[in-house]
Parts: sequence; structure tokens; C-alpha cells
Amino acid sequence: MPDNIDCRVTVAGTGSYVPEKILTNDDLAKLVDTSDEWITSRTGIKERRIAADGEATSDLGAKAALEAMDDAGVTADEIDLIIVATVSPDMFFPSTACFIQKKIGAKNAVCFDISAACSGFLYALQICRHFINGGNRKTALVIGAEKLSTMTNWEDRNTCVLFGDGAGAVVLREDPGASRYIISSSLASDGEQTDILTVPGGGSACPITPANAEQRLNTIAMQGREVYKHAVNAMRRAAEDALEKAGFTADQLDMMIPHQANRRIIEAVTDRLGISREKTFVNLEKYGNTSAAAVAIALDEANRSGAIKSGDLVLMVAFGSGLTWASTLMRW
Ligand code: ACO
Repeated sequence: MPDNIDCRVTVAGTGSYVPEKILTNDDLAKLVDTSDEWITSRTGIKERRIAADGEATSDLGAKAALEAMDDAGVTADEIDLIIVATVSPDMFFPSTACFIQKKIGAKNAVCFDISAACSGFLYALQICRHFINGGNRKTALVIGAEKLSTMTNWEDRNTCVLFGDGAGAVVLREDPGASRYIISSSLASDGEQTDILTVPGGGSACPITPANAEQRLNTIAMQGREVYKHAVNAMRRAAEDALEKAGFTADQLDMMIPHQANRRIIEAVTDRLGISREKTFVNLEKYGNTSAAAVAIALDEANRSGAIKSGDLVLMVAFGSGLTWASTLMRW
């Protein structure tokens, strides 16, 4: 399906923030029956960041947002839209976006959260493009922010080794003359697979009680093999769709920035697309899977490190619970 977006939306700035505390694989081996060797060989992850007790998702998101605003050279007053992608909001309500609005002083912004799990940042980018294309929003913050450590079962070795906390952000603006802009996007969902990656308790379907809290129903439950299988196929389809819409092929890409869940998933996707390791940006060894924040943090690091340069054709691609999958093609 075409994007039906006429205006040119530029990524005016990027930012990210990860908490100070590092939890290594060896630290985890003291909590559950695992090892650095097992985690590294199955996932590529070496360590992850864990937010402090008093540090909420909005604190991480606000720091990433301020960095992106600084990079873009925009003031808080200029921000007229804040969209936060998260599955670990500060509270059910108000939205994490409203908390971030207050923390950064963006009093002119319309603020809301979206939930699309690990694909959330790319979903939010596309929502934002439509807002800007509609003409009534000019300068927006799109933020992926997560404190997954609060919904991790630290006694479950199948899941606790995978996740981490962090936030990434971009400033999007309409700029007809921009050389850096979003070219195309692809979004998809499959509600038939809601049960393979979920936090079953805590919502209206299964309110938390002392008994099910004891069973840790308020933490992440995952069928790892199923997730793996779907992730590889869906990310490949998302990548091909955004490229095809814009008339490009994978061999024309300068850099792919995939969701940072698992090195084996990333390599299976890029091998199928025929993309070399040198053209794939990976930082999951430092942060693990930070869900909606992962692609946003990776984009900021790729930008600041010079891994992506002016004129590069860059594809971001993600997959997550829902199931959801998405991609965004950009000229950098
Ligand atoms: N340390 C040691 N052993 C472990 C650990 C661990 N942390 N976790 C599981 N095991 C054991 C299992 O208990 C099992 O033991 P058994 O054979 O005695 O029963 C054995 O290792 C093999 O378990 P599998 O689940 O079959 O291992 P697999 O090779 O499939 O790897 C993994 C597991 C890494 C989770 C893999 O399935 C995977 O990458 N799945 C994708 C999951 C993912 O990335 N989710 C993130 C969210 S989705 C997203 O963001 C894309």
C-alpha cells in the first residue's frame, strides 16, 4: 500500500540515553542458571542497562529527547507533538508522553503514547509523518523508551537474559528542501499470534491479584522458538516492502538498522536479504533488547559514530509482540 504522504519529513536530530547501571552476563549467572557462553552464543548480548529504582521510563525518554532537540537545534517551545512508543509506561495513565512534556517544558505539544511493542518506534515515526503531512503539526518528537526491568521475571532464565532499559528519540520536521528525509514505510500486524510474546497480567483481561502476582503473571512470557521463526520472516517482508514501494532493492542499501533483539535473528534476516555484516548496525551486545527504544538508540549511535553518513540509503526494520512488524527507509 503506498504511503500517500506528499510532504518531505526530515530527521532533524537524534538522541539517546541509557541508565548508568550495567548488568553483565556474569552478573546474571549469579541470579539464574545461565552462563556468559550460553547468552553470547544464543543472542550476542554481553550486558544490558538497568534503570535506578526512582528512574521511570519518562526520565529515560526526557533525556533522549533533550539530546535530540539539542542535535536538531530546536527549543522546547517549538515542539508541537510528542509521540512515545513504549510497553513500559510510567503509569496506565497519564501517558508517558505527558510526563516527558512536563520534564522538558514542551508546553505547546500534543502528547500521547502508542503500543506496538518492539515495532513501536517505527509505528510512531509513520504516525508522526501523517500528522506533519496533514499540515497541523510542524516539529515533533518521536521517542522510544522502555524500563523493561520492571516487567522482567528475574528468576526466569528464558527471558531475563534478553532485555534491558533505555530510550532513543528523533526530532521530525517538514522540510521540502531537506536532503535527509524519510522515503517510505511499511507497517503490519498479526493478532492471531498474541500469545507467543506477552505480559499476561496487569491489564483488564487479567487484573493483578496476590495469587497471580506470585505466579509472576505481570512479567514477560515468551515462546522463544516461535518468536524467532516469525521475527525472521516478518522482518524480511517488512524490509522488502518498504524498499519495493520506493523502487529500491536491498543491494542498494548503505546501512540496515534492525531491531536489536538477537544477533542470530539479525543475521538470518540480513543473509536472506543479501545484506553484508558491514552494512548492518548492531549494538545489542551493550544493551540487550530494549523493545521500542532499540532501533531509536541504534539510529542515534549510528548517526553520532559516523556509521551512517550524509547521502546514505538507510533502512530501519523491527519486529515485536502483537505480532507487529515495520520498516522505515530513509535518505540520510
Ligand atoms: N541459560 C542457559 N540455558 C538456557 C537459558 C539461559 N539463559 N535459557 C534457556 N535455556 C535452556 C532451555 O531451558 C533449554 O534447556 P532444555 O533443552 O534442557 O529444555 C535449552 O536452553 C534450549 O532452549 P531453547 O529455547 O530451545 O533455546 P534456543 O536455542 O531456541 O534459544 C532463544 C533461546 C535465545 C530465546 C531463542 O529462541 C531466540 O532468540 N528467540 C527469539 C526471542 C527474542 O529475541 N525475543 C525478544 C522479544 S521479540 C523481539 O524483540 C524480536
